[in-house]
Amino acid sequence: MNKQPIGIFDSGVGGTSIWKEIHMLLPNEDTIYLADSFNAPYGPKGKDAIINLSIKNTEYLINKGCKLIVVACNTATTNAIDYLRNTYNIPFIGIEPAIKPAALQTKNNTIGILATKGTLSSALFSKTSDMFASNKNVIEQIGEGIVQLIEGGKLQSKEMKTLLKAYLKPMIDANIDYLVLGCTHYPYLIPLLVELLPSHVKIIDSGEAVARQTKAILKKNNLLNIVSVDSNNHFYTNGDPKIMQSLLNSEFNVEYLDF
Ligand code: DGL
Repeated sequence: MNKQPIGIFDSGVGGTSIWKEIHMLLPNEDTIYLADSFNAPYGPKGKDAIINLSIKNTEYLINKGCKLIVVACNTATTNAIDYLRNTYNIPFIGIEPAIKPAALQTKNNTIGILATKGTLSSALFSKTSDMFASNKNVIEQIGEGIVQLIEGGKLQSKEMKTLLKAYLKPMIDANIDYLVLGCTHYPYLIPLLVELLPSHVKIIDSGEAVARQTKAILKKNNLLNIVSVDSNNHFYTNGDPKIMQSLLNSEFNVEYLDF
């Protein structure tokens, strides 16, 4: 079982930001990445639809023999991970907005959170926010349209800059000193965000923490691949492979798959 791949899925190409962290920390591990770009964005969908799409992705990865699944999507984690954990007999790693470290470190008592509607309206997000940031000024912003632009290959576009400027304005006006990226597509925006934010604002996401947690859970379950060989990494999308390829090094090949 320990030579089996790690399965990773997202509503689209954004979870490759998480795959990169996992591959850096666990270079021996084989991986299978599923981008459900055909059904992106998940953010505006209801909880039941997000659970059903997460079941579809999970069952594909389990049928491929994955030993553990990383839900590399905040929206799918906050809406579906309890269901997945209660239904399938393998470990799941999820990703949630890094509200705790931001709340602990803010000096201005004011933090910004950019995430999808599905994440910000979830019970899990409310619980985490109440637990760690109830005494902070939390400026929440739905990143409506951002995922669609990235999935459409418009990461560096005028439209993206206009959207981000509008979304950041209330946060800048409120004098945030931390911006939490609560969607796995958003780390690809960091160069643009750095350009648009005042220089004292720190940007945080959960990618590194997810990779560390993946390693810890593999170790705990005796699932680490300890055989030192080059890993196999497969990337599948039911959207346009070119868009995903543009986010990955050319040594990794993206294939179209109807799943
Ligand atoms: N990458 C997903 C997330 O982390 C994007 C969700 C969407 O498709 O709206 O939330």
